Amino acid sequence: MSTLLDLTQQGDVATITDESKLSSVKLMTPQQLYELWERQNWQSHTISFERDKEDWAGLSDADKDAIVWGLSSFFIGEERVATQFNGLVGAYESQAEEAFLCTQQVDEARHAQHFNRFYEQVIGYDGTFESRLDRAREDVSDAFKVLFDDKLVEANQRLLRDPGDREAKVDFVVTYHMVIEGTLALTGQANITDQFEQAGIMPGFLEGFRLISQDEHRHVAYGTWFLQQAAQDPALRKRIQARLFELIPIASGVLVPPGVDAADNYEIFGKTRDEVMGYAFTALTRRLKVIGVPLQAPDEEAVPA
Ligand SMILES: [Fe+2]
Ligand SMILES: [Fe+2]
Repeated sequence: MSTLLDLTQQGDVATITDESKLSSVKLMTPQQLYELWERQNWQSHTISFERDKEDWAGLSDADKDAIVWGLSSFFIGEERVATQFNGLVGAYESQAEEAFLCTQQVDEARHAQHFNRFYEQVIGYDGTFESRLDRAREDVSDAFKVLFDDKLVEANQRLLRDPGDREAKVDFVVTYHMVIEGTLALTGQANITDQFEQAGIMPGFLEGFRLISQDEHRHVAYGTWFLQQAAQDPALRKRIQARLFELIPIASGVLVPPGVDAADNYEIFGKTRDEVMGYAFTALTRRLKVIGVPLQAPDEEAVPA
C-alpha cells in the first residue's frame, strides 16, 4: 500500500514511525484534507459528562489543581487559535485551501466549546464563557502569554494587513501549525489522555479530547503541506528555520509547570521532562524532514546548488 493511504486516517506524517518512508511520503492536499474533515465531523454538545462529575468529586484537591493547571492552557489555547486564525483564512491561494481553512476555524471554535462545557459542568466554574476564560487565564505561564498573546497575534495581524505577504504566511503557519499545534498541543493531548486512561477517569472529557486530537493531526497535516510548498523557495526555507529558532525556546518554556526550574528534571502529566520533550521534538523533526528543512540555525545550511 502507498504511504498516502497510511495517512488517510489523520493525514499527519508524525504518525509514520518508519523514518525511511519520510523522504518519499506524498502529503494529502487541502482538497483531500477538506474531504477528510467531512468524514470526521463531530458534535461537542452531545457528549455526556455525568461520569466525569462523579470522578471529579472523588479527586484530591492536589489532583484537581494539577488537572486545572494542565487543562487551562488548552482552554485558553483553543480560544486563542479560534480567534487568531482569520488572517490565514483570508490568505488562501486556491478554492480547496480556502475550504479547508474554513473547516479549521470551525474546528477550533468547537474545541473551545468542549472545554467551556467541561469547565462549567465538571470543574464547576460558574458564570459565563468569558468569565471562565478569565479565571483559566490565571493558570497560564509567562512563556504561554508570549507565544499566544504576542507572537501568534502579531503573525495574524500581519496577514490581515497583507494577505499576499508570503513571509507573513510562513511565519504564521510555523507559529500556529508547527509549534503550537504540532509541538505543544499534540504532546499535551497524548500525555493527558494517557494519564486519564491509566486512572480510568473522565470518559466524557476523553471522548471529546480524542476527537480534538484527530482534528489537530489534520490541521498539522495542512501546515506540513503548506510549508513543503513554501520550502521550494530558498529565502522562505531560511525564514522557516529562523522562525523555528525564535519560537522553540519559548515553546519549551510553555511545557514547564509552575514553580519549577526549567533545568530541573520535573514531571508533567505523569511523565518526566525528557519523555515530554522527546515526544514533542521527535514529532517536529519528522515533519521538518518531510518539509525538507532541517532543524538548524538558518545560516548554517549550505546554499543549494
Ligand atoms: Fe484546537
Ligand atoms: Fe487545531
